[in-house]
Amino acid sequence: MKIFLIGFMGSGKSTMGRKLASYLKYEFIDLDKILELKAGMSISDFFEQNGEDDFRKLEKNTLQGGNFNDHTIIATGGGAPCYFDNMDWMNNNGVTVYLTMPSKTLASRLKHASDRPLIEGMTEEELLQYINEKLNEREPSYKKAQFIISGIDLTVEKLAQYLEPSLN
Ligand code: S3P
Repeated sequence: MKIFLIGFMGSGKSTMGRKLASYLKYEFIDLDKILELKAGMSISDFFEQNGEDDFRKLEKNTLQGGNFNDHTIIATGGGAPCYFDNMDWMNNNGVTVYLTMPSKTLASRLKHASDRPLIEGMTEEELLQYINEKLNEREPSYKKAQFIISGIDLTVEKLAQYLEPSLN
């Protein structure tokens, strides 16, 4: 079974994904990293040179053409579930988990973020407003996930316990 972790930037998909993979003895894949390898450049450079529309196409191809092994945890980029049919595709190809996080916590976590072109140079206040707007826009897609779990105080043991009945 493949497990797709989705959620906003800064919600802990990669950190939790890595921990869960090691706990379950699964492989871990960070979709953004694969995408960077494919593109031969950082996400910021890709956005700058090709724009967001091309980024979303590459993101879709990296996700849906990924041929990931079973027993893999895939941490997706924050926008991935919200473009094309990516969310339905993930639901049809594995278990989807939305890691939720309050917007204030996200803003504080993201204020020193690097290589995140969509929020580059924003103050914490601007970030909070952007996050609230984007979350509003994105949550209908995020909420299609089979599991919706708060990332606050989440331990790998707790997460594994929630998912256990769906794993095979
Ligand atoms: C994005 C999130 C980023 C990355 C890109 C766009 C988004 O991934 O894919 O900068 O649209 O929210 P993380 O969620 O891993 O930061």
